[in-house]
Amino acid sequence: MRAFCLVFMFLLFNARLTPAWAQYHYQSLMNYLENRMLAMEERISLWHEQSNRYNSELKDFRQQATDLMERIGKDHGKLRLDLDGAGVHVERVEREMDYIETQNPPRPCTKAEEKMVEQEGTPKHDRKEELSPVTDEGASGGCVDIVSSISAMKILKRMGSPKGVWTRDAVTAKVYMFSGTEGDTVHEYSSVSALSSSPASSRAISLPTFWNGTGNTVHNNQMYYVSEGTDVRVMKFDLHNSSSGDSAVFPVDDRSPVYALNPETVVDLVADEEGLWALYGSKDNINLAKMDANTLDTEQMWDTGCPRGNAESAFVVCGTLYVVYNTRPPSRSRIQCVFDVNDMVTSEEAPLLYFPRRYGAHSSLKYNTQEKQLYAWDDGYQILYKLTLKQKLWV
Ligand SMILES: *[C@@H]1O[C@H](CO)[C@@H](O)[C@H](O)[C@H]1NC(C)=O
Ligand SMILES: *[C@@H]1O[C@H](CO)[C@@H](O)[C@H](O)[C@H]1NC(C)=O
Repeated sequence: MRAFCLVFMFLLFNARLTPAWAQYHYQSLMNYLENRMLAMEERISLWHEQSNRYNSELKDFRQQATDLMERIGKDHGKLRLDLDGAGVHVERVEREMDYIETQNPPRPCTKAEEKMVEQEGTPKHDRKEELSPVTDEGASGGCVDIVSSISAMKILKRMGSPKGVWTRDAVTAKVYMFSGTEGDTVHEYSSVSALSSSPASSRAISLPTFWNGTGNTVHNNQMYYVSEGTDVRVMKFDLHNSSSGDSAVFPVDDRSPVYALNPETVVDLVADEEGLWALYGSKDNINLAKMDANTLDTEQMWDTGCPRGNAESAFVVCGTLYVVYNTRPPSRSRIQCVFDVNDMVTSEEAPLLYFPRRYGAHSSLKYNTQEKQLYAWDDGYQILYKLTLKQKLWV
């Protein structure tokens, strides 16, 4: 620009010297200037165009960037939500994993059970003794064992309602499932492995009357269940020829639940080495009654002194009652009250025993005399607990 101005001044200066020559130069200068101006105008309009284009491109880019940022923000939010959701389900998934793990190998009740016991660190020589079947020496004498630990846990299956009962007849080895807290049908499986295989084939047994609660049990090929109509009745059903046997009105004062944490159960029927027992609530405590397994007569009754409050379930081993307590919401189940009908074991002697691990809450615990195992129903999971027994102190 500056160079151009200098040329212009020089030409003007020269023009003053010779008019004709100046005239000519003036004209060419004007032409030159006009051309320059045109070129500049062209260039300016080109710049203008370009700058407009850049501007709109920049605008587009900005819009795109904003959209992208928004989308990223949204995705991030969604990811957060997903993560939170995943966190909530982690415990559930862990349970499923445990369950799947214990599904293999397919015959869990023998080999896997032993392996599990080994993993828990139980000395081998102890285990051998436990696993050998104890000879059944009848209603009295013979049975001198006390529970010293809960040595292993195995999740066998997950099926049915959150609450229910499953149990195995110590004599026939058949397995029975009562899903829920009332109904009139029970499912029979030929064995534990038949139940754990999928699809599990079962025989549906329709009972002559409905059952209520989780107090049902099976003992010597007889099914005993509790039916709550106008009376609370204990019913007997012969599983050999599928015929209903005796029934008896059970003498409960009121219908207070046996266990505060399982209010559906008014009478809990359990079996051990010595026969059939009934547990029921009375005021604040749990009472125990010895039943005649044939006639359903009540032979003897005890106030165990074990409170109903925070009780979850109970079982009897060798004439000693073990009451299992928990909290709401569920934490770890523990045996915190023990009552021996023969006064051989006191709660002080019996150790405070915790169940291996927290799941939900037990709706039932049924002891199998042959295997020394508890058949537990915990929030829809069918679980086995292996008990370690030792001899009562006086022996
Ligand atoms: C017992 O179960 C039957 C049949 O399901 C039901 O009609 C009845 O109400 C139940 N009784 C109680 C006290 O829950
Ligand atoms: C079923 O078997 C029992 C003995 O186990 C017997 O007392 C009863 O009469 C039998 N019932 C029928 C219908 O056969």
